[in-house]
Amino acid sequence: MHILLTGGTGLLGRHLCRLWTGQGHRLTVWSRRPEQVPMLCGGGVRGIAQLDDLDADDPIDAVINLAGAPIADRHWTAARRNLLWASRITLTEQLLAWLQKREQRPEVLVSGSAVGWYGDGGERELTEASQPVKEDFASQLCIAWEETAQRAQALGIRVVLVRTGLVLASDGGFLSRLRLPFKLGLGGPLGSGRQWMPWIHIDDQVALIDFLMRHNDASGPYNACAPEPVRNRTFAKCLGKALHRPALLPVPALVLKAGLGELSTLLLGGQRARPTRLLAAGFTFRFNDLQSALDNLSGRL
Ligand SMILES: NC(=O)c1ccc[n+]([C@@H]2O[C@H](COP(=O)([O-])OP(=O)(O)OC[C@H]3O[C@@H](n4cnc5c(N)ncnc54)[C@H](OP(=O)(O)O)[C@@H]3O)[C@@H](O)[C@H]2O)c1
Repeated sequence: MHILLTGGTGLLGRHLCRLWTGQGHRLTVWSRRPEQVPMLCGGGVRGIAQLDDLDADDPIDAVINLAGAPIADRHWTAARRNLLWASRITLTEQLLAWLQKREQRPEVLVSGSAVGWYGDGGERELTEASQPVKEDFASQLCIAWEETAQRAQALGIRVVLVRTGLVLASDGGFLSRLRLPFKLGLGGPLGSGRQWMPWIHIDDQVALIDFLMRHNDASGPYNACAPEPVRNRTFAKCLGKALHRPALLPVPALVLKAGLGELSTLLLGGQRARPTRLLAAGFTFRFNDLQSALDNLSGRL
């Protein structure tokens, strides 16, 4: 297969490139830094600066759309919100405009989203049949991102939307930010610690994207999180255990709100999300239990 990726140089993208090059697929990554693509994604992967660098008669079988500026890195100032929006929604619009121009179109578009689509769900169990519970900036961003990608359906393309939870990996993402405070013994629950955390091991995340790309009858939204979400305080306890450090120091909600503004909603809220549609489609998770997922990664953290 010839697979085109956006965000291919990111955490998920690099792992996907490793899997698919190993399986002999041909990969092209649309990137702001195409010259770094072979180094980041593997020697055989081609980086392109613009979509028109692809020949009209070079067929593409699948598009994986994961590009987006990091959501939890900085305060959501007006400028940051614009960048978070443009790097997902405007970029996806550009992708669609290019697909529309092409005579040959891919069979499938797998496009990114997040469990943040639901907003803070409190105690409610969230399946793909649920509606957004509370709309905050992160959920508005995901809703718009999904709606934009969904328009590819009108071009005869199967569209899969991956509502990703917190991806646990040893080489980036959420855990890399928690590693230092926990190793210093400064880790602990955030706010009340009761908020739900829909986590997923990177190996399962990569496997489910591959699964959804290949399953011709897969379309629409899929919650990409392990079947057993945990509360934030359980997460802190399990991470402390995996790193052999105590995880007792709570971070008060007021401190997070004062320090992070609206961004604190990402940490103080959560989603009790279930991967109902993936399980119904027959996807098997390798890591169902948080402690085993963290123990698997902890030697590399
Ligand atoms: N990791 C998680 O826990 C998680 C959870 C839920 C949702 N997601 C979503 O899933 C997607 C992939 O996640 P990830 O962790 O692999 O992301 P990542 O490591 O932050 O990489 C995202 C990629 O997006 C591109 N990008 C960054 N800023 C951009 C900008 N201003 N304009 C255009 N492109 C930009 C970059 O590619 P180039 O530098 O090559 O252009 C980057 O490699 C993201 O959109 C993320 O929001 C991730």
